[in-house]
Amino acid sequence: MIIAIDGTAAAGKSTLARRVAQTYGLPHLDTGSLYRAVARDVMAAGHSLEDARAAAFAAKRIDPSTLGDPNLRLRGNGEAASVVAAIPDVRAALLEFQRAFANQPGGAVVEGRDIGTVVCPDAEAKIFVTASAESRAARRHRELVGYGVEITEQVVLAEIKARDKRDSERAVSPLKPAEDALLLDTTELDIEKAVAAALHLIDKVA
Ligand code: C5P
Repeated sequence: MIIAIDGTAAAGKSTLARRVAQTYGLPHLDTGSLYRAVARDVMAAGHSLEDARAAAFAAKRIDPSTLGDPNLRLRGNGEAASVVAAIPDVRAALLEFQRAFANQPGGAVVEGRDIGTVVCPDAEAKIFVTASAESRAARRHRELVGYGVEITEQVVLAEIKARDKRDSERAVSPLKPAEDALLLDTTELDIEKAVAAALHLIDKVA
């Protein structure tokens, strides 16, 4: 069974995907980490994030064993990832790895922005997770303050809106729910309720 979990930034996708994967005993791929790793490698090589050739070069050489690097989750890296993610050759270079992961025997939980629409259009279960920008900003702000980052909620909100806009308006594989995706709005839900709602949606189709 392939379970595709897509959605907006900071809507709780990753926690949800991890918990769904645990429940079904399936491997889990956070595809955002691929784009984050490309951004990291482009910057480390001294290139601009808009440099399509450098970004495609980095995407072809991604080492999957580095995807657990906690630095990939640092603030700012999500924005950097969304810049390289708009480059068609970067997306093309990462497609095969994502599809191979999804299609391993037994299936997988794959989370991202275009899993239900492009990477795994035939996934058995597709969930599109979102929440109001304000509630996502409030959650992300709490998380950042917990890590000791000094930042206002307004700045976090502006960053989230900018990332949503870039992800939704890009020409290739824009962020949008697949036509057959089940929508899950987590604005009013804590993580336990969101997990329960996701499992309920998946049980109906799986
Ligand atoms: O999910 P996460 O916040 O880690 O993703 C970082 C960025 O990577 C997203 O804002 C998006 O631009 C890009 N991304 C994407 N397609 C995916 C996963 C992530 O374009 N499947």
